[in-house]
Amino acid sequence: MVTLKSPSEIEQMKPAGALVAACHREIAKMIRPGVSTWDIEELVDDMLHSAGARAYTKGYKGYKYATCASVNEVIAHGFPNRTPLKNGDLVKIDIVAQLDGWIGDSAWCYGVGELSPEAEKLMRVTKECLYIGIERAVVGNRIGDAMHAVQKHAESHGFSMVRDLAAHGVGRELHEEPNFIHVGTPGKGFRFKEGMVLTIEPMVNEGTWRMTIDADGWTARTADGKLSAQFEHTVAITSDGPIILTAHE
Ligand code: MF3
Ligand code: CO
Repeated sequence: MVTLKSPSEIEQMKPAGALVAACHREIAKMIRPGVSTWDIEELVDDMLHSAGARAYTKGYKGYKYATCASVNEVIAHGFPNRTPLKNGDLVKIDIVAQLDGWIGDSAWCYGVGELSPEAEKLMRVTKECLYIGIERAVVGNRIGDAMHAVQKHAESHGFSMVRDLAAHGVGRELHEEPNFIHVGTPGKGFRFKEGMVLTIEPMVNEGTWRMTIDADGWTARTADGKLSAQFEHTVAITSDGPIILTAHE
């Protein structure tokens, strides 16, 4: 069942989204060669606790950390660790905060130092995919049309869209209905309704869309070892258009 949120509930969701956004703003300032994803984990954990929020991923299905930290060919759900980041790394940090009972969820991709032109392009196109999806997240539009546009944008640049990890409704729970992937067929799928709050979180790969999961049960990697990028926002669908609850740029 899709839980539609009233305008006042969407207002109530704003602080959780804003807190995740504030974390991303701080990460953007600190990320450089030599910093580790563990440093980022500690920063986020501190920021969430100081704000009276819960790091929702800690303990979620056995996950242990306040962030997912996915470097280069890791698509998602990587564990933060003490390895220093290197010049040219592509790092995705995913944060889920629960504040006053409401959840905000946003992953952002950061370049460390100077990126290769290919990594730079992958990041740019993936961010464009995010905003193409958000622009089309309008009352009455179909998910198939929106996600077809997102998919085609990635593919038109020679990249592929991950198909095995889904976006989701979000509210009091992290994973609510609807669920969808960032690949779509025009004219198909549910229509966006006023009061839906969902994530849009395209994961775009340089090579194949296929992925593997490590023996740890979490770390999702590209099957060919090539790069992957992701940008994710929590978005509220309103009669005035989509509102990005986790906006920070
Ligand atoms: N943004 C991720 C999601 O949409 C957050 C889950 S991370 C997990 O599912 F590790 F806790 F699962
Ligand atoms: Co999510």
